Amino acid sequence: MSKLWGGRFTKTAEEWVDAFGASIGFDQKLVKEDITGSLAHVTMLGKCGILPNDEVAQIKEGLKTLQKKAESGELEFSVQNEDIHLNLEKLLIDEIGPVGGKLHTGRSRNDQVATDMHLYLRNETKEIMEAVKSLQTALVNQAKQHVETLIPGYTHLQRAQPVSFAHHLMAYFWMLERDYGRYEDSLKRVNISPLGAGALAGTTFAIDREYSAELLGFEGIYENSLDAVSDRDFILEFLSSSATLMMHLSRLCEELILWSTQEFQFIEMDDSFATGSSIMPQKKNPDMAELIRGKTGRVYGSLFSLLTVLKGLPLAYNKDMQEDKEGMFDAVDTVKGSLNIFAGMIETMTVNSDTMEKAVHQDFSNATELADYLATKGLPFRQAHEVVGKLVLVAIEKGVYLLDLTLEEYKNASELFEEDIFDVLQPKTVVARRNSAGGTGFEQVKLALKKADHLLHVKEESHVPS
Ligand code: ARG
Repeated sequence: MSKLWGGRFTKTAEEWVDAFGASIGFDQKLVKEDITGSLAHVTMLGKCGILPNDEVAQIKEGLKTLQKKAESGELEFSVQNEDIHLNLEKLLIDEIGPVGGKLHTGRSRNDQVATDMHLYLRNETKEIMEAVKSLQTALVNQAKQHVETLIPGYTHLQRAQPVSFAHHLMAYFWMLERDYGRYEDSLKRVNISPLGAGALAGTTFAIDREYSAELLGFEGIYENSLDAVSDRDFILEFLSSSATLMMHLSRLCEELILWSTQEFQFIEMDDSFATGSSIMPQKKNPDMAELIRGKTGRVYGSLFSLLTVLKGLPLAYNKDMQEDKEGMFDAVDTVKGSLNIFAGMIETMTVNSDTMEKAVHQDFSNATELADYLATKGLPFRQAHEVVGKLVLVAIEKGVYLLDLTLEEYKNASELFEEDIFDVLQPKTVVARRNSAGGTGFEQVKLALKKADHLLHVKEESHVPS
């Protein structure tokens, strides 16, 4: 079979060589974007008088037929035609005859593929932003149920100070808020048009790049044709935002996994997001959380892979760049899948508030309270720290917690202690009093939930369906 670019060649490559160079196996994912881009291009060719109206109409008709066939799965692609662009061009010529060969006037596959990728990522980024929002909503809903549920807060995975469980969950809300912002910001750079940059240098035809950009809903055009065809920063940005998002999800996965252990028993995963063991009948494994933690690795991999592909590439297009696609497609699927599963896990998990409550009563995480107490009464904090450290030791030696020591024992440590310390040491008081901005005090947590509701509402209002 002869190639669309076969004129200069005296022999054809062997099939296995074609197969190695072909991208049709994966870039057929861009079929819709490629047709959309072509429709805009040919409309522009018509408007600029580069092609006569009847030919433009024929080509558009043909492209729409291909679009319909693509939707019903009737299009047959071949490796000989290398990629989605050449396959569609060939199919168009088959459909409407030689006039189909005029579609590529004033265009190159280099600006064409870049256009497709911009269209694809614009759409997927918006869908991912929606999924981020759904997970944020799930977190807020779960948090609202647990403003007054206490959980040990950790540093170094050692009990540090008790916190509201809602506060803990909301930490992830804010991470996701930054993730959302990163995707949103990246859209500025995704939403510009490379179309019309040609192979690398522009074209001799009197095209109107602004017009085709407008037809495609782009906010502007690349200023430099070389940059337009060789820029893949927008994909790197997408992968980098996705890697960060996955890192956040992975951290929460780790906590969910820990919390569902026999040792913690803070939560129980809903049966629909857990699996059993084929040999140990008692087991319920938090598989989905583990899997998302694991999938984080492949998104990092795609980011590094593309950074490596691009480093050292001279301008402008190089075939290396065909390697930009699979990692991006994979990251899109991984991120969307992970976000959707996550929202489900958070919505359906059972929170064992009693176990959490018991935990905060059985530790020394209220020790800072005593030090603050003495400091408030004028003892320099460093000395207060020392006094309380000794009291903790007394309690450990007696095998009790701070609330179990007597006032006399407190007085022995410092005359500044009064009866009210027994209230001050209550975990609920401990949490309630951390009312500094952004702290875990119940008032602060309620305020944060209000802010979160507002942010979600604003996103809802500004949502433009992609
Ligand atoms: N399949 C190619 C890619 O994905 C399309 C652009 C090819 N351009 C070229 N001059 N070979 O990068």
